[in-house]
Amino acid sequence: MRAARHHRYGSPEVLQVDEVPPPSPGRGEALIRVEAAALNPKDLLIRQGKGAALSRFGLPLPVAQDFAGTLAKLGPGTEEFGIEVGEPVYGMLSAFHLGACAELVTVRRDEVARRPVGLDAAEAAALPLVALTALQALRDDARLTPGDRVLVHGASGGVGTVAVQIAKAFGAHVTASCSERNHALVRELGADACVDYRAQAPSELHARFDVFFDVYGNQPFSVARRVLTPEGRHVSTIPDPANFAWQAGTGLRARTPGLRGPRTAVVLVRDSRRDLNALARLVADGRLKPVLDRRFGLEEIAEAQAFLETKRARGKVVIDLAP
Ligand SMILES: NC(=O)c1ccc[n+]([C@@H]2O[C@H](COP(=O)([O-])OP(=O)(O)OC[C@H]3O[C@@H](n4cnc5c(N)ncnc54)[C@H](OP(=O)(O)O)[C@@H]3O)[C@@H](O)[C@H]2O)c1
Repeated sequence: MRAARHHRYGSPEVLQVDEVPPPSPGRGEALIRVEAAALNPKDLLIRQGKGAALSRFGLPLPVAQDFAGTLAKLGPGTEEFGIEVGEPVYGMLSAFHLGACAELVTVRRDEVARRPVGLDAAEAAALPLVALTALQALRDDARLTPGDRVLVHGASGGVGTVAVQIAKAFGAHVTASCSERNHALVRELGADACVDYRAQAPSELHARFDVFFDVYGNQPFSVARRVLTPEGRHVSTIPDPANFAWQAGTGLRARTPGLRGPRTAVVLVRDSRRDLNALARLVADGRLKPVLDRRFGLEEIAEAQAFLETKRARGKVVIDLAP
């Protein structure tokens, strides 16, 4: 089978398409025939060899976590798998499992769900990692409730375009922070208000927010708290030591009787069949739709990653694998 891989770390040119032996599903696993994969900024970091946590990967490395396709085969011990051979599926490989950008990939139960009705493979592949991130950040870390005023900073990218929609589905009032050229896009996705972070820093806004979702990752709690309500919640996508220190400090304060104040958390996306099914229901209800910027063929994997690296994608970058 064909698979995108890199044999050394570096710029997008290190990416190539290799002919490799087809994988076979192990105990509790299923084999997926991949029709489309989607890229995420983490793929770029892995290709660059950045991050201590990523060093456990040995070269050559396969590419990508998001996929959509068809369940091709079930391995042993999958009587309770819940999806049958031939069904259309979508999903996200877990944090230390790569290789969605290949004609075949093996998955565990929590990494895959039935594909949302009405989405083709490219549309479905565009959802899992970013929509799981937005759902888990807003529902679990921010504890979003109806009527909350939410600021989504980085609203026009992969995570942002779904975060705006999911926050609206939770009944929030959503302010989207992105470049002015993308205001029409985020309004179309449901944003109630838009701000251009180039004209005014989000932390300098006059409004107050119950939830500040720093999707882009350059609005740490130390500045974001200026625009949070007294019980406001800030969530960052960046797992760095400073953000974890703020998370521990504000969490301790929240648990101390008599003390109150805004708090912060770092979202760490996790694979979950239950959450993939929840996202599929939002799609079915017409409350969530994928936003695709560009589609590339497998042989164009280097161009696709180079485009994502510009940090100007409006929604997702998708790789088509079906012949
Ligand atoms: N912790 C986790 O579990 C987790 C999960 C998913 C993603 N992430 C991280 O979340 C971040 C965003 O991911 P993504 O998939 O949304 O990325 P993305 O799709 O590459 O984001 C592209 C967007 O970034 C915006 N942008 C560029 N420069 C900006 C700036 N200076 N300020 C604000 N926005 C800016 C652009 O908006 P405009 O063109 O409108 O300016 C563009 O639409 C990445 O760092 C990623 O690694 C973390």
